[in-house]
Amino acid sequence: MHNDQPIGIFDSGIGGTSIWKEIHQLLPNEKTIYLADSKNAPYGQKSKEEIIALSMKNTELLLEMNCKLIVVACNTATTNAIRELREKYDVSFIGIEPAIKPAATHSKTQIIGILATQGTLNSELFNKTTEKYQDTKIIEQVGHGLVQLIENGDINSPEMTQLLTSYLAPMIEANIDYLVLGCSHYPYLIPQIKKILPEHIHIIDSGEAVAKQTQKILKEKIGLSSAEKSKPIFYTNTDSKVLSEILENKYTVEKIEF
Ligand code: SIN
Repeated sequence: MHNDQPIGIFDSGIGGTSIWKEIHQLLPNEKTIYLADSKNAPYGQKSKEEIIALSMKNTELLLEMNCKLIVVACNTATTNAIRELREKYDVSFIGIEPAIKPAATHSKTQIIGILATQGTLNSELFNKTTEKYQDTKIIEQVGHGLVQLIENGDINSPEMTQLLTSYLAPMIEANIDYLVLGCSHYPYLIPQIKKILPEHIHIIDSGEAVAKQTQKILKEKIGLSSAEKSKPIFYTNTDSKVLSEILENKYTVEKIEF
């Protein structure tokens, strides 16, 4: 069974490209359309209602573009809106949730850290997940300001180092051995985070798991592309410079209204 329609991917901005990269690497024949809603970033400080409305707007645009499957490449949108999206639209959604399970399962100290947005940490879905791991102490930290700095292209700025150092210090002190990155923007901070964390602390994000799940759903339910190779399409609703840069200027990025 083949299906040559594109995969739609959306995020509150450029961070979801960390998920797109994993999908593109695993499924290079799939046509992908990426929507960066940078105009409305960060989603992490918005109300649940606002996050649902923005997620629906992005979904409707991707459906107009004939997408066969939608990847919500944003932890905040997944944890706050995926149930409502699944109820309203007749298309399969893949969401991205913080990788608490592998961290809690492999932790030797039984203490893990999670860095995520306020919206993710406050969500019902996230709290339901953590309830399952009562034997593991989970140190939660809101990454105030991180998404905005990434969206501004200030990944390597002194301000970023300062924020990360202050957010990670209590986790190091608490003896975590796993740090979960619960926001699709944060994988771009891994080189910075590695400079701050002691070497024995593992860092995990959800990108690879999302790509594998996308492959599974396409194979089992929707159909993989029959194309040899596909050119990805990127849309943003702000200046395209930072998105182009994060993609190493390898792809064309188009600015559109949405
Ligand atoms: C944000 O827009 O606040 C971050 C998105 C995410 O949680 O992945």
